[in-house]
Amino acid sequence: NAPAYENIIVDTPRPGVGLVTLNRPKALNALNSPLFKELNAALANFQSDASIGAIVITGSNRAFAAGADIKEMASKTFSEAYNADFLATWSQLTTITKPIIAAVNGFALGGGCELALMTDIIYAGPKAVFGQPEIKLGVIPGAGGSQRLTKLVGKSRAMEAVLTGRNIDVEEAEKWGITAKRFDTPEGCVEGALDTAELIAGYSKIAVKAAKEVVNVSEETSLAEGVRFERRVFHGLFATQDQKIGMKAFVEKVKPEWKHE
Ligand code: HXC
Repeated sequence: NAPAYENIIVDTPRPGVGLVTLNRPKALNALNSPLFKELNAALANFQSDASIGAIVITGSNRAFAAGADIKEMASKTFSEAYNADFLATWSQLTTITKPIIAAVNGFALGGGCELALMTDIIYAGPKAVFGQPEIKLGVIPGAGGSQRLTKLVGKSRAMEAVLTGRNIDVEEAEKWGITAKRFDTPEGCVEGALDTAELIAGYSKIAVKAAKEVVNVSEETSLAEGVRFERRVFHGLFATQDQKIGMKAFVEKVKPEWKHE
């Protein structure tokens, strides 16, 4: 009973792993409203599917996503954009509590870069290109790029990227810390992301959820508050069966059989 999608391909290629492949090849996966609606629906399905432990989002070898769909946006008026809170639905992705890995090959520009920045881990293929070229279109990043890129790479680099709109190739992206890992081939990048997702999906889902939550809190809070929050969540995990299971398995030198409780 999988829903039929027109702009994405949804699959579960490994145990516990959900894969979304953006699939508008003729438009270099430009992100239009129907595509994002489908992406949000697919992510919501993975979020509520107890068998899924981690998610990978990828595109094609040529493009992860070349931005928001310029043709769809071009004639929008201010009141249309404001009334519909244009792009607000994109951030639904950040409400997903399961880890999301972006496997980026080719262009990740504008909204495509912002989509990658909303995920938890970015892996890149040899020809990955990041950038916020909105300035060239007479606008600015609108899906969090100016905020998330700045937090990630610092003000000077983010300012230069956003003000010039230039491409950031994979070497530079790696140096800046945008990507967690670089792969030699596009296929290797996707397989690498699936490997990591499968590894994560094999852990206690309750611990994984807590781990993602505490790391994300570090983006929003002071160090002292963040450390306090982390410690409280850590204490809370001693009320789970999985903490007992995991530590007992270590002591007995056996593989833990997680209950996810
Ligand atoms: C709509 C797009 C598109 C986009 C590419 N296409 N990017 N359509 N929106 N963002 C379409 C092209 O119009 C073209 O369709 C087809 O995809 C192939 O693209 P080409 O330009 O022919 O390919 P190439 O010469 O290889 O150049 C690739 C490219 C270029 C460098 C990535 O397409 C490009 O500059 N795209 C726009 C990148 C960009 O500005 N992104 C930011 C968008 S603004 P046809 O029908 O002509 O063959 C944005 C706003 C963010 O994201 C606000 C918040 C999200």
